[in-house]
Amino acid sequence: MSLSPVRRRVAVVGTGAIVSGGHLPALRAHADRTELVAAVDVDQGRLDAFRASAGEQVAGFTSMSAMLDAVRPDLVLIGTPPSLHREQTVAALKAGAWVLCEKPLCLSLAEYDDIAAAEEASGAYASVVFQHRYGSGAAHARELIRSGELGAPLVAHCQTTWHRDAAYYSVPWRGRWATEGGGPTMGHGIHQYDLLLHLLGEWEEIRAMAARLVHDTESEDVSTALVRFRGGALATVVNSVLSPDEVSRVRVDCADATVELTHLYGHGNDDWTYTPARHVPAERAAAWRAPALDVPSSHTAQLKTLLDAYDAGVRPPGSGQEARGTLEFAAALYKAAFTGRPVRAGEITPGDPFHAAMHGGRLDWATEERA
Ligand SMILES: NC(=O)c1ccc[n+]([C@@H]2O[C@H](COP(=O)([O-])OP(=O)(O)OC[C@H]3O[C@@H](n4cnc5c(N)ncnc54)[C@H](O)[C@@H]3O)[C@@H](O)[C@H]2O)c1
Repeated sequence: MSLSPVRRRVAVVGTGAIVSGGHLPALRAHADRTELVAAVDVDQGRLDAFRASAGEQVAGFTSMSAMLDAVRPDLVLIGTPPSLHREQTVAALKAGAWVLCEKPLCLSLAEYDDIAAAEEASGAYASVVFQHRYGSGAAHARELIRSGELGAPLVAHCQTTWHRDAAYYSVPWRGRWATEGGGPTMGHGIHQYDLLLHLLGEWEEIRAMAARLVHDTESEDVSTALVRFRGGALATVVNSVLSPDEVSRVRVDCADATVELTHLYGHGNDDWTYTPARHVPAERAAAWRAPALDVPSSHTAQLKTLLDAYDAGVRPPGSGQEARGTLEFAAALYKAAFTGRPVRAGEITPGDPFHAAMHGGRLDWATEERA
């Protein structure tokens, strides 16, 4: 006899592009395990349009606290602009709900500390959306790399070369430290280097540069970094919104094989290639072929892991140290770029200006860089 799954009562906060295009399809794909009971948006027009497509039975609210009081959801999905994430995540945790919040989870390591404290007090968990960690291709590559099957990781490239125009940056919250938390380092490339960290594990040292070459923003529109991982591998990371030929790429050269992922905004098994070194016998390389099941990277794949953790009562993937680690990498990249010196893992602690804000208080960083 099979038991029917527990259905979690879910609320969405923010009903814009990513909630409509990423979270709503994920909820529909897991309709046997979730029930969308409420939606919140301060923009009544967007809220109405969302409810019309999601189903009128979804209660609408223009205030998150009113929604939490009235609905007491099990799980809150947050898709608002980044500057609201900390406060809304903490509010949901305080109401006892688990949270799946869009990237970036918050704007600084100091803000992360508030979320960790709220988790601790409530017993609920907050995960950040990094959908490219999830799905069969990434899980397979990670298993092959981390088990040592491909030999020691030696050299990696992590490339987010995207293109965004002036109209994109005309949205008021974009490109500003206080509202987006940074430029493509925080907003775009963060997906790819989150995946790189997932594949290669702990890093040790980072050197970086950032520049504002095209856009009328406060933050950078391109950054580059050199990274040494704890296991010895060296990596380059590029985060750009200035690149007409757009691509997202992660490549890891291990002693016995090169693993390469090439995609733009999402990947399936076919986007991963494994090229054996000349000394590797064909039958060994044949065993690396992609898994039979093809689960694309997506909000749907990530939501499944969170629901599994909820059912098991354990910390979900994408929360805790996994979430903090990616923010720490961002903070270290900015610190290295804005101070012009290498930054070591663990050195950004409370009292360090780059703990309080990604720009480390250096709003004139671009002028300083060129001086
Ligand atoms: N995972 C991904 O691939 C991905 C892709 C795009 C965007 N994002 C992230 O998703 C978040 C939202 O981006 P978007 O493009 O959907 O933005 P958006 O502007 O389309 O949607 C944001 C929504 O939040 C609403 N909102 C603003 N203040 C609110 C408040 N106080 N309470 C409730 N609702 C409020 C706005 O009215 C709007 O409808 C950002 O953090 C962004 O980085 C992630």
